[in-house]
Parts: sequence; C-alpha cells; structure tokens
Amino acid sequence: MKSIDSGAYSIHFNEHCYVELNSFLESSNFSNIFIFVDINTHEYCLPTFLSNISYSCELEIIEMEAGEHHKNLDTCTQVWHTLSELDADRKSLLINLGGGVVTDLGGFVASTFKRGISFINVPTSLLAMVDASVGGKTGVDLGGLKNQVGIINFPKMVLIDPLFLKSLPKYEIRSGVAEMLKHGLIKDAEYWKRLSDLKSLNLYDLECLIYESVVIKNEIVKRDPNEFGERKQLNFGHTLGHAIESYFLSSNNKTTLLHGEAIAVGMVLEAYLSTKNCGLINEELLQIKKVFTNLYGIVKFNKKDKDSIIDLLKYDKKNSHGEIKFALLECIGKSNIDVIVNEDIINEAFSYYAS
Ligand code: GLY
Repeated sequence: MKSIDSGAYSIHFNEHCYVELNSFLESSNFSNIFIFVDINTHEYCLPTFLSNISYSCELEIIEMEAGEHHKNLDTCTQVWHTLSELDADRKSLLINLGGGVVTDLGGFVASTFKRGISFINVPTSLLAMVDASVGGKTGVDLGGLKNQVGIINFPKMVLIDPLFLKSLPKYEIRSGVAEMLKHGLIKDAEYWKRLSDLKSLNLYDLECLIYESVVIKNEIVKRDPNEFGERKQLNFGHTLGHAIESYFLSSNNKTTLLHGEAIAVGMVLEAYLSTKNCGLINEELLQIKKVFTNLYGIVKFNKKDKDSIIDLLKYDKKNSHGEIKFALLECIGKSNIDVIVNEDIINEAFSYYAS
C-alpha cells in the first residue's frame, strides 16, 4: 500500500511503516524518545511495536489509564509532569501508541509541552486508524463535554499497522466502522455501498477499506486543515452524536456508549434532518437507518434523555453566534455544511429513530 501524503506529514501502512519510522529516527537526532501508551496498549501492542524498532536508543514508556473517562486535563498534567521529571526538552519525541484517547491526548500534551514537541501517532484501534490519528486534531474532554479543549497540530508521521486490530474485541471494530461508513456517506456512494454490503467485519476485507477511508479523510483535511469550511463535512452525525456520547458519559445510570455507537445514532438522526433540510430522499434515509440499526441496534431514549441531549447541542464546536450548525447529506456521497435546523425537527428525528 502506497504511503499517503498529507502535505504536512505522511501516513505509512503495514510493515513498511516501521522502515519509515526507523529511518526517521536515525536521521532526526532526538534528545529522548517517549512512548505513550494506556494500560491495554502497554500490554497488547507495545511488545510488537518495540520488536519492530531497530534504531538503537533508550526509550521511556509513559502510561495512562485506559478509557474516555481519563481523557482530561488531570491526565495531561500527570503526563506533562512525567515528561518534565524525565528531562524531556524541545528536541524530544512522543510516540502515541494507542486508540483515539491516547492519540488525541498524547497529541495535545506534545503540542503544548514547552510550546510544542514532535509527536508520531501509531493508532491501534480501528477508530484511531481511520479518524482520530489522521488530520491533526488533538485535545481532551472538559467535564462531560467531548473535545472542548484542544488544538490542530500535525504529527511528524502516522503509522497504520492493521495487525494491531487482531487484539481488539469485535465491538471496538464495529465502533471504528461507523467512521468509515461516514466517509462513504459524505463523499463516496460507491465506497458506502461496498462497506455496508460486507457480510462480516474481517481483517482481510477491512484492510483495503481502511486505506480508502484514510484517503477520503486525508483529501478533505488537505484542502481545509483548519476546518474553516469543507472539513466540517466530517462532522456529519457528530453534532447529535457527540451530545449523545457526552450525555451517556456523564450520566451515572447509563452505560457509556463507544464513540462509534454514539455517532451511529447521530448519523441516523442527522440523516432524518437531511431529508427535511437538504433534500435527502426517503429511500436513502431508510437505507441508512437499516445499515446502522442492523450493526449497532437501537439505543433507547426517554424524554429527559432527549431534552438533555438537545440542551447539550449548545456546546457544539461548530456553533457560532448562538446558532447550532449541522453537516447534513444532500444524497449518499454528498454533504452540505452549516445547515441551521429548527428544534422541532430535531425532536421529530428522535421519534423517527425510535419508530
Ligand atoms: N474527526 C473529524 C475531523 O478530524 O475533522
């Protein structure tokens, strides 16, 4: 698989990614190299990763607890302190080996430590491979609100080795597939069809689809890295999806939803909004609902849940001048940005989802 050029950095695949990494390390003269992991990737991914590093140097391992609940400023403070205690300087490198929490938080820590040190993303979850690690978005949650503090800053490279997916449970693979389906919905109807027609989510079929998904996302980010316009398309399903994820994350009586599970609901809801505001035809809405509910089931919302979720929309990062703005579909494969939607239609979308 050919490496993908993002302008600011490259994305390398499979065993070739380690060739690129070793030659980069050899030519860069970093004063020290840190590998940032969570407790799971420490156990299941770090040994494989280290066995592929031929460049001889001392590596320090920094570990965080696993999970979205730890993606916050307290964890950042701990990692900044550890870097300081281990004498990290501006010529240090942080390698983020993990899922979206590790790459988002690690990228943010690196971007802010001593006003910015170099970092590399080595995503180990499907979600991080096709979305979080690519495109330079870094950041953490604030209270229960997703990704409220962060910065766009690019890694030195992204290394995608799908073999890491072998250690993942099925539900994590399903979660990542939601972002891949989104890439098809917003930009490529043929890709959506091929992916949604898959009979099973096996690594063999997924490998090429992962590559194509990264190509779709990378093309968008390259044209609009700072999300002034086109990049907002990538937020399809995320306005409501993030609010749902935040709500479940901060409710004591709810099981936390994985990111992909939350945005799958968000995409069905926002597909409904698309029929009312952007001309998406009913037949495509039905198709979208069927694909997502078959893969992820139906999440139940009572009136209080729905009202609280709609209330959370005011914190969405795409809002401006007090208006809630959505990225919606004109048809499968084509999306529009900055669409303002009436609250009654959002309520209707929840009824449609439950029907
Ligand atoms: N996850 C959406 C983006 O990177 O823009």
